[in-house]
Amino acid sequence: MYRTHTCGELRLADQGKKVTLAGWVQKSRKLGGMTFVDLRDRYGITQLVVDAAAPAELVEAATSLGREFVIQVTGTVVERQSKNPKMPTGDVEVSIESINILNKSVTPPFTIEEESDGGEDIRAKYRYLDLRRPPLQRALALRHRLAQEVRTYLDGQGFMEIETPYLIKSTPEGARDFVVPSRMNPGQFYALPQSPQTFKQLLMVAGYDRYFQIVRCFRDEDLRADRQPEFTQIDCEMSFVEQEDVLNMFEGMMRSMFKNALGVDIPDPLPRMSWYDAMDYYGSDKPDVRFDMKIHEITDKVQGHGFSVFDSVEYVGAIAAPGCAGYTRKELDALTEWVKRPQVGAKGLVYIKCNEDGSFKSSVDKFYSPEELAGIAGAVEAKAGDLVLVLCGPKRKTQTMLGVLRIEMGSRLGFRDPKVFAPLWIVDFPLLEWSEEDGRFYAMHHPFTAPKPEHEKWFYSDKKEDLERVCANAYDFVLNGTELGGGSIRIHNADMQSRMFEVLGIGKEEAEYKFGFIINAFKFGAPPHGGLAFGFDRVCALFGGQETIRDYIAFPKNNQGRDVMIDSPSLIDDTQLEELQIKTCVKE
Ligand code: AMO
Repeated sequence: MYRTHTCGELRLADQGKKVTLAGWVQKSRKLGGMTFVDLRDRYGITQLVVDAAAPAELVEAATSLGREFVIQVTGTVVERQSKNPKMPTGDVEVSIESINILNKSVTPPFTIEEESDGGEDIRAKYRYLDLRRPPLQRALALRHRLAQEVRTYLDGQGFMEIETPYLIKSTPEGARDFVVPSRMNPGQFYALPQSPQTFKQLLMVAGYDRYFQIVRCFRDEDLRADRQPEFTQIDCEMSFVEQEDVLNMFEGMMRSMFKNALGVDIPDPLPRMSWYDAMDYYGSDKPDVRFDMKIHEITDKVQGHGFSVFDSVEYVGAIAAPGCAGYTRKELDALTEWVKRPQVGAKGLVYIKCNEDGSFKSSVDKFYSPEELAGIAGAVEAKAGDLVLVLCGPKRKTQTMLGVLRIEMGSRLGFRDPKVFAPLWIVDFPLLEWSEEDGRFYAMHHPFTAPKPEHEKWFYSDKKEDLERVCANAYDFVLNGTELGGGSIRIHNADMQSRMFEVLGIGKEEAEYKFGFIINAFKFGAPPHGGLAFGFDRVCALFGGQETIRDYIAFPKNNQGRDVMIDSPSLIDDTQLEELQIKTCVKE
């Protein structure tokens, strides 16, 4: 037997027991003739001790242990003289009688402890060493727990876990595909799935009724803290359902995940907000509702006072940052520079300080009387001590900028505590999004999303204004300013699907080539169906109180899409290229 206990297990009640432990040497130190060794495995750390009176070879063996040596020790559990209340095993130590070195280690490039001294790049290169650290082990343990919760809940609701293929044809999620050349079909390529969307719909046609899969998806897009080129979805689909059924089912799933993994109760039912309200009041389709600071439109209040900047725009909006009236000139200038950065894109920032004494001080004092400033402050629900921040321009663009500013102020003011959870559904998305650049409509979700039944009349209209009014039977699950999941009720009728392709400017031939298989399947009795997918990596990260998903993925890629540990992507050899009949012509 390699071990009788793990390194996280021994307590005072085990005193006097003879035990065998195995693990990695975190550190070893000599103290007044005694040698102490911290032995680590994924369950914890146990202190080993060899006292000065022990046989010389044992003392010698203990002092020669290097960091990350893998050892097996046998000894007796004893009460520690100086206890460490921070460690679960901190009341005891193992007084060892024998050490067996199972494997030596070269000196690791960084410290493998709760906090490491290694930079991000070096830790990514030696990911398997970083994964030995407790924070990463806790992250992966949480991921495992949540996956079990998902499976237990969905199994209990009659869902079947069914795998779908990875070597497929382009899927319609709107990112770029990763492609794989086919040796047996020269010149032809598979696409890796951006999601199993079409397959899950085909499973509904096939009668599988309630499907789920914890599945890898692949998207070649620009990467960010919450985006990886390969990521995992909890992908689900149901037949004979309406939007309400889907929302209830998955609210239930999230509720049980919150309860069983975190001990947190989320509201029942969850709040819902229309996409239009989310944009108008939060400037985002994924509002962080942990704090208020809503956006208010003040166009009518500010126009017509001779301030040409406001008079010449479609929209003027503002937020009231609580308790910020004391911002200094320097702080306001810095904030103005901040909103002017390309990431925000504002042209300038107007402020109104609502001083504690009831007076107002604004960057546009020239144009507005104190009464008018008070009126604006009132419209923004600003109180004495608040700072009103105003942006203007085209409506949606300005709301989005105010949304970014709102998040920044929320962070500065400490309103975005990762331990507070504010989930909600966003509903009533527009079905279509007009692109001025391309002069055509795009599907806001994907082209299989159904219009709301009461908006179908506009869906069949040829007028752009009508099409812009159509709401989708779509919904997103949002938590703390992050889109965790999204889905829709699908089109299940071949005619309506053809109309959708027509509206999106996808010709009959192109539709047939790309999606012929699904249009055809719909002719064989497709049931009404709908579903959604959660981004599992994001769920794990937010549950763990982080915004970056990388630590919740065992082997993630960096922001350039590289796996620096295995050094991939990489060149392939000429024989492989020849077999695939592919020539590369990389531009320098
Ligand atoms: P959608 O494209 O909204 O919907 O994706 C669902 C969820 O997946 C997560 N996600 C990502 N997570 C990490 N890295 C990425 N690159 C990434 N891209 C998306 C998000 C998102 O909410 N087939 C539809 C679902 C449906 O209609 O049923 C789909 O894939 O959390």
